[in-house]
Amino acid sequence: MTSQIAQWHAEHGNFSLLLSFLEEQVARFRDGESPDYHLMLEIVSYLREFGDCFHHPREDAAFALLATHEPRMRLPINRLHQDHRVLAVASEELAARLNQVISETYVRSATVEAAAALYLAYYRHHLATEERQILPHARLLLTAQDWEVVARAAPSCPDPLFGDTPTQTYQRLAGMMAARSSGEKKQDSAAGG
Ligand SMILES: [Fe+2]
Ligand SMILES: [Fe+2]
Repeated sequence: MTSQIAQWHAEHGNFSLLLSFLEEQVARFRDGESPDYHLMLEIVSYLREFGDCFHHPREDAAFALLATHEPRMRLPINRLHQDHRVLAVASEELAARLNQVISETYVRSATVEAAAALYLAYYRHHLATEERQILPHARLLLTAQDWEVVARAAPSCPDPLFGDTPTQTYQRLAGMMAARSSGEKKQDSAAGG
């Protein structure tokens, strides 16, 4: 159970990191620069592939169990279930716009910027709500049997980006994250003296 909570929290950390990479690209619109649309699509594809297919189904199972233990949580939990459906549609919409740009179909950059900015804001708010309202209650209320139900809600699969061996699709993104993390470590050790 503890390991499942730790994994749940770690996945949120991974998603937040990806959203910060996405935000850097979205900021380029504001600065009048051209974003890396391929990178944006890789990020959204991962969040769809892993988030929508594995992370969210397990959460949906955990939410349903939490609501049976604590009926007062039904309203916020219903909103989070709805968030998952909205995020699935928003990610599909953003991926469609990015694919249009990449295939050189005309699409206004303001349309892509708006789709990406909305997705970012919605996803960040969703993660923060789960961390603040759900994980602490799940830690207290869910039983060992509940956690077995949660685990069965979506098949285990190797994480295609943050797992031991990133798949070919995400090699570049994995390399960028490794470079960022080693740069931050160097800065920390330099600051530490
Ligand atoms: Fe969620
Ligand atoms: Fe989540």
